[in-house]
Amino acid sequence: MNELTKQFHNAEFDGWKPTKSYEETIENFWDSDLPFLEIDCDLDIEKIFKEVQKIKDEDWMETQTQTYQKEIHKKNGTDWFYTLHSSGWDEIRLKSYDFKNFKKIQKNSHDIPHQFDVVIKKNLLPKTIDELENKNYDYNFLKISRLKPSGWLHPHKDQISDFGNKLSYMWIPLNDCQKNLKIYPYGYMPCKLGCAYLLNNFDHIHSVLNKDQHDRYVILMKFNKSKIDMNVIKNAVKQQWYS
Ligand SMILES: [Fe+2]
Repeated sequence: MNELTKQFHNAEFDGWKPTKSYEETIENFWDSDLPFLEIDCDLDIEKIFKEVQKIKDEDWMETQTQTYQKEIHKKNGTDWFYTLHSSGWDEIRLKSYDFKNFKKIQKNSHDIPHQFDVVIKKNLLPKTIDELENKNYDYNFLKISRLKPSGWLHPHKDQISDFGNKLSYMWIPLNDCQKNLKIYPYGYMPCKLGCAYLLNNFDHIHSVLNKDQHDRYVILMKFNKSKIDMNVIKNAVKQQWYS
């Protein structure tokens, strides 16, 4: 593991408290600065996990093995911003950006038009896609991530979260896991099977470390928020951040 990742996971964080009132947070929930929100997930996780486990090794794509750092962050010394560096991190991209054309069409990092999405491997996990469609999940971006034991992802913020809203990035565990995603300055996000996590990966530096002895699988999705009942959101925000 590299030094910054080690420091990040060994550090004691102070925790995070809301900066705004409950009412203000709810009013602008999708772009609020909450680090994450845990909600119940109605997907058949067991069915999805069974199918994911059958994926052949050659279909997994090892990703983000290079440190990528923008000049501006080097200059500012903020070397964990927008860096992507990992080990033991594999992905299946079921619906994602066309990276070949990405640079050409992108006017700036905050302006990525939706129509440039491409479906890459939607036939690889047919039951999973069916399950998402049957439950009316509508997403712009969908991938499965596999993290090997001791696998890690360097602390970073994501630039692509503004594809929809800050909190429309959904992280869904597919198998038992210890807490493994750490968010500055909150600490470790829970990792409960049967739950989905709306993750603000835009405002908060985060890093992942698999402390289990087995591979950790999660679904990562950038979804269209219309599906979610605001009453569920309101109750979860109150319970998790304002009580
Ligand atoms: Fe991230």
